[in-house]
Amino acid sequence: MLIVMLVPLFIIAILVKFLKPQKKLSIEGKHVVVTGGSSGIGKSVAILAAQKGAHVTILARNIDKLSEAQQEIKKHCANEELIISKVSVDVANYEDVENNLCEVEEIVGPIYMLINCAGMAICRQVEDFTEQDIKTLIEVNFLGTLYPIKAIVPKFKQRREGIIVLTGSQVSLMGMYGYSVYASSKFALRGLAESLFMEVKPYNVSVTLALPPDTDTPGFENENKTKPEETHLLSNTGGLYNADDVARKLIDDALASRFFSYIGFESFILTTLCVGMSPFSSFLELLLQCVALGPLRLIGAFYIIYFDKIVKKCFHNKQIKKEQ
Ligand SMILES: NC(=O)c1ccc[n+]([C@@H]2O[C@H](COP(=O)([O-])OP(=O)(O)OC[C@H]3O[C@@H](n4cnc5c(N)ncnc54)[C@H](OP(=O)(O)O)[C@@H]3O)[C@@H](O)[C@H]2O)c1
Repeated sequence: MLIVMLVPLFIIAILVKFLKPQKKLSIEGKHVVVTGGSSGIGKSVAILAAQKGAHVTILARNIDKLSEAQQEIKKHCANEELIISKVSVDVANYEDVENNLCEVEEIVGPIYMLINCAGMAICRQVEDFTEQDIKTLIEVNFLGTLYPIKAIVPKFKQRREGIIVLTGSQVSLMGMYGYSVYASSKFALRGLAESLFMEVKPYNVSVTLALPPDTDTPGFENENKTKPEETHLLSNTGGLYNADDVARKLIDDALASRFFSYIGFESFILTTLCVGMSPFSSFLELLLQCVALGPLRLIGAFYIIYFDKIVKKCFHNKQIKKEQ
Protein backbone atom coordinates (compact mmCIF):
# COMPACT_ATOMS: atom_id res chain seq x y z
CA MET A 1 0.00 0.00 0.00
CA LEU A 2 2.77 2.40 1.06
CA ILE A 3 4.86 1.49 -2.00
CA VAL A 4 1.87 2.14 -4.32
CA MET A 5 1.63 5.66 -2.83
CA LEU A 6 5.39 6.24 -2.93
CA VAL A 7 5.79 5.60 -6.69
CA PRO A 8 3.68 8.62 -7.82
CA LEU A 9 5.40 10.71 -5.16
CA PHE A 10 8.82 9.82 -6.56
CA ILE A 11 7.59 10.84 -10.02
CA ILE A 12 6.24 14.11 -8.60
CA ALA A 13 9.57 14.82 -6.82
CA ILE A 14 11.48 14.26 -10.06
CA LEU A 15 9.03 16.48 -12.00
CA VAL A 16 9.41 19.25 -9.40
CA LYS A 17 13.18 19.01 -9.70
CA PHE A 18 13.43 19.04 -13.48
CA LEU A 19 10.40 20.90 -14.82
CA LYS A 20 10.50 23.94 -12.54
CA PRO A 21 11.66 27.07 -14.38
CA GLN A 22 15.13 27.93 -13.12
CA LYS A 23 16.00 31.62 -12.93
CA LYS A 24 19.59 31.27 -11.73
CA LEU A 25 21.34 34.21 -10.10
CA SER A 26 25.13 34.40 -9.92
CA ILE A 27 27.44 35.33 -7.04
CA GLU A 28 30.57 35.61 -9.17
CA GLY A 29 32.43 38.75 -8.15
CA LYS A 30 29.77 39.54 -5.53
CA HIS A 31 30.15 39.87 -1.76
CA VAL A 32 28.62 37.01 0.27
CA VAL A 33 28.36 37.16 4.08
CA VAL A 34 27.97 33.91 5.99
CA THR A 35 27.12 34.00 9.70
CA GLY A 36 28.37 30.88 11.47
CA GLY A 37 30.88 30.54 8.63
CA SER A 38 33.66 29.16 10.85
CA SER A 39 32.14 25.68 11.26
CA GLY A 40 29.79 23.02 9.91
CA ILE A 41 27.19 23.95 7.30
CA GLY A 42 28.22 27.64 7.35
CA LYS A 43 31.85 26.79 6.58
CA SER A 44 30.83 24.48 3.72
CA VAL A 45 28.58 27.25 2.35
CA ALA A 46 31.45 29.78 2.58
CA ILE A 47 33.82 27.41 0.73
CA LEU A 48 31.26 26.83 -2.01
CA ALA A 49 30.66 30.58 -2.39
CA ALA A 50 34.43 31.14 -2.79
CA GLN A 51 34.55 28.32 -5.36
CA LYS A 52 31.79 30.10 -7.26
CA GLY A 53 33.93 33.26 -7.41
CA ALA A 54 32.40 35.31 -4.57
CA HIS A 55 34.20 37.53 -2.06
CA VAL A 56 33.31 35.92 1.26
CA THR A 57 33.05 37.33 4.78
CA ILE A 58 32.50 34.88 7.64
CA LEU A 59 31.02 35.91 10.99
CA ALA A 60 31.31 33.98 14.28
CA ARG A 61 32.58 34.61 17.82
CA ASN A 62 35.69 32.46 18.29
CA ILE A 63 38.60 34.21 16.54
CA ASP A 64 40.84 31.12 16.34
CA LYS A 65 38.15 29.06 14.62
CA LEU A 66 37.49 32.02 12.29
CA SER A 67 41.17 32.26 11.32
CA GLU A 68 41.39 28.52 10.65
CA ALA A 69 38.24 28.61 8.50
CA GLN A 70 39.49 31.71 6.65
CA GLN A 71 42.69 29.85 5.65
CA GLU A 72 40.68 26.82 4.54
CA ILE A 73 38.27 28.95 2.46
CA LYS A 74 41.21 30.78 0.81
CA LYS A 75 42.45 27.43 -0.56
CA HIS A 76 39.18 26.99 -2.48
CA CYS A 77 38.92 30.44 -4.11
CA ALA A 78 38.02 30.51 -7.80
CA ASN A 79 40.75 33.15 -8.35
CA GLU A 80 43.47 34.98 -6.44
CA GLU A 81 41.68 38.36 -6.44
CA LEU A 82 38.94 37.19 -4.12
CA ILE A 83 38.81 38.73 -0.65
CA ILE A 84 38.08 36.32 2.19
CA SER A 85 37.54 38.19 5.45
CA LYS A 86 36.46 37.32 8.95
CA VAL A 87 34.58 39.23 11.65
CA SER A 88 34.37 38.19 15.29
CA VAL A 89 30.90 39.18 16.47
CA ASP A 90 28.01 37.82 18.49
CA VAL A 91 25.08 37.79 16.06
CA ALA A 92 22.69 38.28 18.99
CA ASN A 93 24.07 41.81 19.61
CA TYR A 94 22.35 44.17 17.16
CA GLU A 95 24.66 47.17 17.48
CA ASP A 96 27.80 45.07 16.93
CA VAL A 97 26.24 43.29 13.96
CA GLU A 98 25.19 46.55 12.28
CA ASN A 99 28.56 48.26 12.86
CA ASN A 100 30.56 45.26 11.64
CA LEU A 101 28.46 44.80 8.51
CA CYS A 102 28.91 48.51 7.66
CA GLU A 103 32.67 48.24 8.18
CA VAL A 104 33.05 45.10 6.08
CA GLU A 105 31.01 46.67 3.25
CA GLU A 106 33.46 49.59 3.19
CA ILE A 107 36.42 47.20 2.90
CA VAL A 108 35.08 44.42 0.64
CA GLY A 109 32.17 46.08 -1.16
CA PRO A 110 28.36 46.01 -1.03
CA ILE A 111 26.90 42.80 0.34
CA TYR A 112 24.83 40.91 -2.27
CA MET A 113 23.98 37.74 -0.34
CA LEU A 114 23.47 37.19 3.38
CA ILE A 115 23.48 33.54 4.49
CA ASN A 116 22.48 33.10 8.13
CA CYS A 117 23.93 29.83 9.41
CA ALA A 118 24.87 30.77 13.00
CA GLY A 119 22.82 28.66 15.34
CA MET A 120 22.88 25.88 17.89
CA ALA A 121 20.73 23.13 19.36
CA ILE A 122 20.20 21.96 22.92
CA CYS A 123 17.80 19.05 23.47
CA ARG A 124 16.02 18.29 26.74
CA GLN A 125 12.54 17.64 28.04
CA VAL A 126 10.88 21.02 28.51
CA GLU A 127 11.11 21.01 32.32
CA ASP A 128 14.86 20.30 32.23
CA PHE A 129 15.87 23.44 30.31
CA THR A 130 17.61 26.09 32.41
CA GLU A 131 16.52 29.68 31.94
CA GLN A 132 19.95 30.36 30.41
CA ASP A 133 19.56 27.49 27.86
CA ILE A 134 16.24 28.98 26.76
CA LYS A 135 17.63 32.52 26.42
CA THR A 136 20.68 31.28 24.52
CA LEU A 137 18.63 29.31 22.00
CA ILE A 138 16.18 32.14 21.35
CA GLU A 139 18.99 34.72 21.15
CA VAL A 140 21.29 32.81 18.81
CA ASN A 141 18.73 31.09 16.57
CA PHE A 142 16.05 33.77 16.33
CA LEU A 143 17.58 37.16 17.21
CA GLY A 144 20.91 36.06 15.70
CA THR A 145 19.11 35.60 12.37
CA LEU A 146 16.80 38.61 12.63
CA TYR A 147 19.54 41.13 13.51
CA PRO A 148 21.84 40.66 10.45
CA ILE A 149 18.70 40.74 8.26
CA LYS A 150 17.41 43.93 9.91
CA ALA A 151 20.81 45.55 9.41
CA ILE A 152 21.14 44.66 5.73
CA VAL A 153 17.57 44.91 4.37
CA PRO A 154 17.52 48.74 3.97
CA LYS A 155 20.66 48.50 1.80
CA PHE A 156 19.25 45.63 -0.29
CA LYS A 157 16.03 47.62 -0.81
CA GLN A 158 17.98 50.70 -1.84
CA ARG A 159 20.07 48.72 -4.32
CA ARG A 160 17.04 46.78 -5.61
CA GLU A 161 18.89 43.47 -5.31
CA GLY A 162 19.97 40.90 -2.75
CA ILE A 163 19.56 37.33 -1.54
CA ILE A 164 18.76 36.39 2.05
CA VAL A 165 18.99 32.85 3.42
CA LEU A 166 17.70 31.83 6.84
CA THR A 167 18.76 28.45 8.19
CA GLY A 168 15.92 26.75 9.97
CA SER A 169 15.68 23.00 10.40
CA GLN A 170 13.24 20.17 9.76
CA VAL A 171 11.91 21.14 13.19
CA SER A 172 10.95 24.54 11.74
CA LEU A 173 7.98 22.57 10.37
CA MET A 174 7.29 19.87 12.95
CA GLY A 175 7.71 19.50 16.69
CA MET A 176 9.80 16.63 18.04
CA TYR A 177 10.46 15.11 21.46
CA GLY A 178 13.35 16.97 23.14
CA TYR A 179 13.24 19.92 20.73
CA SER A 180 10.63 22.10 22.48
CA VAL A 181 12.83 25.19 22.75
CA TYR A 182 15.01 24.62 19.67
CA ALA A 183 11.94 23.95 17.51
CA SER A 184 10.26 27.10 18.87
CA SER A 185 13.27 29.19 17.87
CA LYS A 186 13.32 27.57 14.41
CA PHE A 187 9.52 27.79 13.91
CA ALA A 188 9.93 31.53 14.51
CA LEU A 189 12.25 31.69 11.50
CA ARG A 190 9.48 30.46 9.23
CA GLY A 191 7.24 33.35 10.31
CA LEU A 192 10.14 35.71 9.81
CA ALA A 193 10.98 34.28 6.36
CA GLU A 194 7.37 34.37 5.09
CA SER A 195 6.81 37.96 6.28
CA LEU A 196 10.16 39.11 4.98
CA PHE A 197 9.48 37.46 1.61
CA MET A 198 6.40 39.68 1.14
CA GLU A 199 8.20 42.83 2.28
CA VAL A 200 11.28 42.53 0.08
CA LYS A 201 9.85 40.91 -3.09
CA PRO A 202 8.92 44.25 -4.72
CA TYR A 203 12.57 45.30 -4.27
CA ASN A 204 13.89 42.29 -6.23
CA VAL A 205 15.28 40.71 -3.05
CA SER A 206 14.76 36.96 -2.59
CA VAL A 207 14.32 34.97 0.61
CA THR A 208 15.13 31.29 1.10
CA LEU A 209 14.41 29.25 4.21
CA ALA A 210 16.83 26.32 4.40
CA LEU A 211 15.63 23.26 6.31
CA PRO A 212 18.63 20.99 6.80
CA PRO A 213 18.11 17.44 8.04
CA ASP A 214 20.57 15.91 10.57
CA THR A 215 23.97 16.92 9.19
CA ASP A 216 27.40 15.73 10.24
CA THR A 217 28.93 18.87 11.84
CA PRO A 218 30.62 19.86 15.12
CA GLY A 219 27.29 21.46 16.10
CA PHE A 220 25.46 18.17 15.54
CA GLU A 221 28.07 16.34 17.63
CA ASN A 222 27.40 18.76 20.52
CA GLU A 223 23.65 18.46 20.07
CA ASN A 224 23.92 14.67 20.36
CA LYS A 225 25.44 15.03 23.84
CA THR A 226 22.23 16.65 25.09
CA LYS A 227 19.66 14.37 23.40
CA PRO A 228 17.29 12.30 25.54
CA GLU A 229 17.09 8.63 24.48
CA GLU A 230 13.76 9.24 22.72
CA THR A 231 15.23 12.04 20.59
CA HIS A 232 18.17 9.82 19.59
CA LEU A 233 15.83 7.04 18.47
CA LEU A 234 13.48 9.41 16.62
CA SER A 235 16.22 11.26 14.76
CA ASN A 236 18.00 8.03 13.80
CA THR A 237 15.09 7.31 11.44
CA GLY A 238 16.18 10.12 9.07
CA GLY A 239 19.88 9.33 8.46
CA LEU A 240 22.83 11.73 8.54
CA TYR A 241 23.77 14.10 5.70
CA ASN A 242 27.12 15.55 4.68
CA ALA A 243 27.59 19.31 5.29
CA ASP A 244 28.95 19.90 1.75
CA ASP A 245 25.84 18.31 0.16
CA VAL A 246 23.53 20.39 2.37
CA ALA A 247 25.51 23.54 1.53
CA ARG A 248 25.40 22.83 -2.22
CA LYS A 249 21.62 22.40 -2.13
CA LEU A 250 21.23 25.55 -0.01
CA ILE A 251 23.22 27.70 -2.46
CA ASP A 252 21.51 26.13 -5.52
CA ASP A 253 18.03 26.78 -4.12
CA ALA A 254 18.87 30.32 -3.01
CA LEU A 255 20.34 31.19 -6.44
CA ALA A 256 17.18 29.78 -8.05
CA SER A 257 15.12 32.00 -5.68
CA ARG A 258 13.28 29.03 -4.17
CA PHE A 259 11.54 29.80 -0.89
CA PHE A 260 12.27 26.41 0.72
CA SER A 261 15.61 24.66 0.49
CA TYR A 262 15.57 21.01 1.51
CA ILE A 263 17.48 17.86 0.70
CA GLY A 264 16.29 14.25 0.56
CA PHE A 265 12.97 12.51 0.05
CA GLU A 266 11.89 12.70 3.71
CA SER A 267 12.38 16.47 3.64
CA PHE A 268 10.39 16.65 0.39
CA ILE A 269 7.50 14.86 2.14
CA LEU A 270 7.72 17.12 5.19
CA THR A 271 8.03 20.38 3.26
CA THR A 272 5.18 19.55 0.89
CA LEU A 273 3.00 18.42 3.78
CA CYS A 274 3.65 21.62 5.73
CA VAL A 275 3.57 24.03 2.78
CA GLY A 276 0.59 25.98 4.18
CA MET A 277 0.61 29.62 3.02
CA SER A 278 4.28 29.63 1.99
CA PRO A 279 5.18 31.15 -1.40
CA PHE A 280 5.42 28.85 -4.44
CA SER A 281 8.11 29.12 -7.09
CA SER A 282 5.99 28.02 -10.08
CA PHE A 283 2.44 26.96 -10.98
CA LEU A 284 3.73 23.47 -11.68
CA GLU A 285 5.06 23.28 -8.13
CA LEU A 286 1.71 24.52 -6.82
CA LEU A 287 -0.19 21.93 -8.86
CA LEU A 288 2.03 19.11 -7.68
CA GLN A 289 1.63 20.21 -4.06
CA CYS A 290 -2.17 20.17 -4.47
CA VAL A 291 -2.08 16.62 -5.85
CA ALA A 292 0.45 15.32 -3.32
CA LEU A 293 -0.99 16.79 -0.11
CA GLY A 294 -3.69 14.15 0.48
CA PRO A 295 -1.50 11.05 0.09
CA LEU A 296 1.32 12.76 2.02
CA ARG A 297 -0.97 13.36 4.98
CA LEU A 298 -1.48 9.60 5.09
CA ILE A 299 2.27 8.94 4.96
CA GLY A 300 2.71 11.58 7.67
CA ALA A 301 0.21 9.69 9.81
CA PHE A 302 2.38 6.54 9.54
CA TYR A 303 5.34 8.55 10.84
CA ILE A 304 3.27 9.97 13.72
CA ILE A 305 2.15 6.47 14.76
CA TYR A 306 5.73 5.16 14.45
CA PHE A 307 7.15 8.06 16.52
CA ASP A 308 4.41 7.60 19.11
CA LYS A 309 5.36 3.91 19.45
CA ILE A 310 9.03 4.81 20.07
CA VAL A 311 8.12 7.35 22.79
CA LYS A 312 5.68 4.90 24.43
CA LYS A 313 8.29 2.13 24.45
CA CYS A 314 10.85 4.41 26.14
CA PHE A 315 8.19 5.49 28.66
CA HIS A 316 7.41 1.86 29.56
CA ASN A 317 11.12 0.98 29.86
CA LYS A 318 11.60 3.92 32.24
CA GLN A 319 8.58 2.84 34.33
CA ILE A 320 9.97 -0.71 34.62
CA LYS A 321 13.40 0.65 35.66
CA LYS A 322 11.77 2.86 38.32
CA GLU A 323 9.84 -0.09 39.75
CA GLN A 324 12.96 -2.30 39.99
N1 LIG B 1 23.89 20.03 11.89
C1 LIG B 1 22.61 19.72 11.84
O1 LIG B 1 22.22 18.54 11.95
C2 LIG B 1 21.58 20.78 11.62
C3 LIG B 1 20.28 20.37 11.27
C4 LIG B 1 19.31 21.36 11.07
C5 LIG B 1 19.65 22.69 11.18
N2 LIG B 1 20.91 23.06 11.52
C6 LIG B 1 21.20 24.49 11.64
O2 LIG B 1 22.25 24.82 10.76
C7 LIG B 1 23.03 25.87 11.31
C8 LIG B 1 24.49 25.46 11.35
O3 LIG B 1 24.59 24.32 12.19
P1 LIG B 1 25.94 23.48 12.31
O4 LIG B 1 25.55 22.11 12.72
O5 LIG B 1 26.76 23.67 11.10
O6 LIG B 1 26.61 24.21 13.58
P2 LIG B 1 28.14 24.38 14.05
O7 LIG B 1 29.02 23.41 13.39
O8 LIG B 1 28.09 24.36 15.54
O9 LIG B 1 28.45 25.87 13.58
C9 LIG B 1 27.77 26.93 14.16
C10 LIG B 1 28.42 28.23 13.76
O10 LIG B 1 27.67 29.31 14.33
C11 LIG B 1 28.56 30.16 15.06
N3 LIG B 1 27.82 30.78 16.15
C12 LIG B 1 27.13 30.17 17.14
N4 LIG B 1 26.62 31.08 17.98
C13 LIG B 1 26.98 32.30 17.50
C14 LIG B 1 26.76 33.63 17.93
N5 LIG B 1 26.06 33.91 19.03
N6 LIG B 1 27.27 34.64 17.19
C15 LIG B 1 27.99 34.37 16.06
N7 LIG B 1 28.23 33.14 15.62
C16 LIG B 1 27.73 32.11 16.33
C17 LIG B 1 29.68 29.23 15.51
O11 LIG B 1 30.89 29.90 15.82
P3 LIG B 1 31.24 30.44 17.31
O12 LIG B 1 30.77 29.40 18.27
O13 LIG B 1 32.70 30.65 17.30
O14 LIG B 1 30.50 31.73 17.47
C18 LIG B 1 29.85 28.37 14.27
O15 LIG B 1 30.60 29.07 13.30
C19 LIG B 1 22.43 26.17 12.68
O16 LIG B 1 21.52 27.23 12.56
C20 LIG B 1 21.69 24.90 13.03
O17 LIG B 1 20.63 25.12 13.92
C21 LIG B 1 21.89 22.13 11.73
